[in-house]
Amino acid sequence: MNILVTGGDGQIGSELKKYAQSSKHQYYILNKKKLNITNFDQILKIILKNKISIIINTAAFTDVDKSEKYKKLSNNINNVALNNLIKISKKFKIYLIHLSTDYIFNGKKKKPYLETDKPSPINYYGLTKLKAEKKLINSNCLYLIFRLSSVYSKTHKGFMLSIINQAKKNKKFYVIDDYISSPTSAKSIARMLVEIIDRKLIFSEKIKCNIFNFSQIGHVSKYHFAKKIIKYLDLKSKCIPIKKNNFRAVKRPSYSVLNLNKFKSIIKIKINSIDYEIKNILL
Ligand SMILES: NC(=O)c1ccc[n+]([C@@H]2O[C@H](COP(=O)([O-])OP(=O)(O)OC[C@H]3O[C@@H](n4cnc5c(N)ncnc54)[C@H](OP(=O)(O)O)[C@@H]3O)[C@@H](O)[C@H]2O)c1
Repeated sequence: MNILVTGGDGQIGSELKKYAQSSKHQYYILNKKKLNITNFDQILKIILKNKISIIINTAAFTDVDKSEKYKKLSNNINNVALNNLIKISKKFKIYLIHLSTDYIFNGKKKKPYLETDKPSPINYYGLTKLKAEKKLINSNCLYLIFRLSSVYSKTHKGFMLSIINQAKKNKKFYVIDDYISSPTSAKSIARMLVEIIDRKLIFSEKIKCNIFNFSQIGHVSKYHFAKKIIKYLDLKSKCIPIKKNNFRAVKRPSYSVLNLNKFKSIIKIKINSIDYEIKNILL
């Protein structure tokens, strides 16, 4: 099968490039320059030329703060552009795998979020992602949605890289302690996506046209996640916990742990713990 991946230079897109090499399928992993998902004609041309049968849409406007400031742009990429992928997927019977987020929830729940819990985003990024999910579910398209949590990699701009850079300066720095999630490596997501396609799991009746949570097992605050990074890298710097109210940033759900029971019982691919995956990435 020929598989098209959008957002090829992003955290997950970049990891997919590595795992795709060991797959029996042909992956076309294109960055924004080669494939802009807001450009219908460009997508159509690539789909026809390469006889694509699956699209993995990792392209997104993921900057939560900028999403609040540049609402139109964020909505265009995260929500409106999905119309293009849906239209083409329906016409050519392409399987559309889309990535969503724990930020569709408000964070008030004190237990891990189920796929069936009522979404209620508290920032604009979350709202655009929720609108996109709803649109895809109602589209009559062959789809699969994965809701992810706090995606990180050590090569791309994001939480892990920022902690590594600050910790290397050997000075004390502050990290929020009242935001709990399940940090998930981009690597583990790419590995899982390639595996569900290689093993044809995506075509199972129980899996297609469905939403699944996916994250690492466990949960941590950003502060404890930072401490783990410092520990595994054997760095000497000290990070200090603070409350998120000290930051004047855009609101984020303070608790966004995802319940993995549905993934574990239906998809059944091994999921690593937070610690295992951090060590695997850093060491
Ligand atoms: N990051 C997280 O913590 C997180 C958490 C939960 C869910 N997710 C979801 O997981 C998915 C992938 O996340 P990620 O962390 O890999 O994101 P990422 O690193 O920000 O990658 C997204 C990629 O999409 C590209 N892009 C932006 N606009 C585009 C367009 N119009 N056409 C084509 N490509 C475009 C970006 O390019 P430029 O950078 O050049 O704009 C970037 O390379 C997204 O759906 C995101 O919502 C992410």
